[in-house]
Amino acid sequence: MENTISHMMPRIGDMAPDFEALTTIGPLKFSNYNKGNWVVLFSHPADFTPVCTTEMMGFAKEKDFFSAHNTKLIGLSIDSIHAHIAWVNAVQEKTGILFEFPIIADIDMQISKLYGMLQPGESETAAVRAVFIIDPVGKVRLIMYYPLNVGRNMEEIKRTLLALQTSDEYKCAMPLNWQLGDKVIIPAPKTLEALAERKASDLEMVDWYLAKKSL
Ligand code: BEZ
Repeated sequence: MENTISHMMPRIGDMAPDFEALTTIGPLKFSNYNKGNWVVLFSHPADFTPVCTTEMMGFAKEKDFFSAHNTKLIGLSIDSIHAHIAWVNAVQEKTGILFEFPIIADIDMQISKLYGMLQPGESETAAVRAVFIIDPVGKVRLIMYYPLNVGRNMEEIKRTLLALQTSDEYKCAMPLNWQLGDKVIIPAPKTLEALAERKASDLEMVDWYLAKKSL
């Protein structure tokens, strides 16, 4: 039987769909939360599950990193607000780690559907592990989807956020495995004169279209 879950999902470059939600810090409107800062919006399949707990603790531990890079976090699952509160409280009691970022209670699945977090081949009732990096003007800049049984990589989430922010600031692109401090790729020359300038420069150059510089 064909499933009825919409396959619409935001794509890179789309404006992030706006929504209002009940969260662990109270009701919020996403566009207000997003205004003027980057947002990492991420879903997890279910509260009180082991992989999700490790991931949420990972996000909580990186609180200072994200705030230092003008980035707010917001989680989501198809659980009730009471389940969220009980889980946040339980984790804090057991580990001392508090999930201070809001967690959306998407009990009617409206936001999960809006963001393509429900992928019925994987689960009809739980959101997959999605990550949306959204910039300060509300544009979706990067999307990751992980299945239920594989936790995400926090270093990759942090790396890609820094890569996007650095790329915006310096108008450059990031090569394979780029890390903060590594050389970046600069745009290819668009005229013969610019090509001659590049050839005479001390840039690290593999070929005329692939040149790197330190920032
Ligand atoms: C987990 O977080 O451990 C989990 C959640 C849903 C399905 C499988 C694993």
